[in-house]
Amino acid sequence: MTRSTRMAWRDMTLFDGLATLPEPMAVIVEDGRIAERLPMSRFDPAAFADCREMGRGGVMTPGLVDCHTHLVFGGNRADEFEQRLEGVDYAEIARRGGGIISTVRATREASEETLFARALPRLQALIDDGVTCVEIKSGYGLDLANELKMLRVARRLGEALPIRVVTTLLAAHALPPEFADDADGYIDHVCEAILPAAAREGLADAVDVFCETIAFSPAQCERVFRAARAHALPIKAHAEQLSNLGGSALAARHGALSADHIEYLDTAGVEALRAAGSVAVLLPGAFHTLRETQAPPIDALRRTGVPMAVATDANPGSSPLFMPTLMLNLACTLFRLTPREALAGMTAHGARALGRTELGRLEVGAPADLCVWDVETPAELAYAVQPGRLRQRLFKGELTHG
Ligand code: NIG
Ligand code: FE
Repeated sequence: MTRSTRMAWRDMTLFDGLATLPEPMAVIVEDGRIAERLPMSRFDPAAFADCREMGRGGVMTPGLVDCHTHLVFGGNRADEFEQRLEGVDYAEIARRGGGIISTVRATREASEETLFARALPRLQALIDDGVTCVEIKSGYGLDLANELKMLRVARRLGEALPIRVVTTLLAAHALPPEFADDADGYIDHVCEAILPAAAREGLADAVDVFCETIAFSPAQCERVFRAARAHALPIKAHAEQLSNLGGSALAARHGALSADHIEYLDTAGVEALRAAGSVAVLLPGAFHTLRETQAPPIDALRRTGVPMAVATDANPGSSPLFMPTLMLNLACTLFRLTPREALAGMTAHGARALGRTELGRLEVGAPADLCVWDVETPAELAYAVQPGRLRQRLFKGELTHG
């Protein structure tokens, strides 16, 4: 068997997923994994003479992990953007039958091919901005055929492009018109038909819910969590986005990977996340787009030691923003994360929110999903919003950019 060529980078400023290493580093990749990382002061060129020289200088980070997106959808909601600018709020639009339900109509009408073709450039935009692992939710189908259709599209996207796609069933996203005034009936259908089918066909890696006054109650969400666990699927929740129903604490009690949005999370919720080891997923794009004024309890999360992830929440309504590095900036400017925290949120902690702790870290033995950026310090990635800084992107040890 021929040994695959080793790749070597020298003089790199290395952000390993949690912190920036104090010295310039050499990094060696072999067989799709990080084979070595060593300070330049201990780098002996002769020992690596057989390596393919990949470059010197710049910042190396793990490939970015976008742990919360709704990338597959039909239509768009530019009209609602205008309504909101005129003063109608997100919840009011939803109550009038717009919002998520308007995207449900467009998604049901779209063929699998159309959904795939529309999602492809969105996913490519994420890839071009350094993402190597993305989560994609269903939640705009809200019936058996259309939820599975969305999940199949998500799976196909991961086969078509060089990126890891993690899928999440979000059938409990909104109440479909067929079940008007019968939310419990719809939750029965989710637990007895949609979720088992998605599990049986291997289409869902996790299960999510929207716990909110305009969506589902904690009791309804809890039933979905129990059904998910019965099918051995991990859970997560959209919770405390618009009000505090205790959805995060409930999810945490069921061992959730993460609670997402959490602008209205209280102290008890923070403590519940800590106790469960759940990740707090911050979505500054939705906060920005909805012109929310209450920020998540960052100080309490930080003090308590709850890991904070940062994601795009890319979707047609609350966050039509398809630029992960912009989220690094927004997480700092809107939520006062440090650039280091923001970057950890899109690498190590983003991966943890997906239960994929082998990703998002540049440690020896980790998969070689990584980015090299044309900047001098990792903080610059959060400081400036500037496309075109991705010099190289490696996916499973293969160069896809640069
Ligand atoms: O993460 N909060 C609910 N779900 C999505 C919004 C989806 C939409 O508005 O289409 C979110 O913000
Ligand atoms: Fe979301």
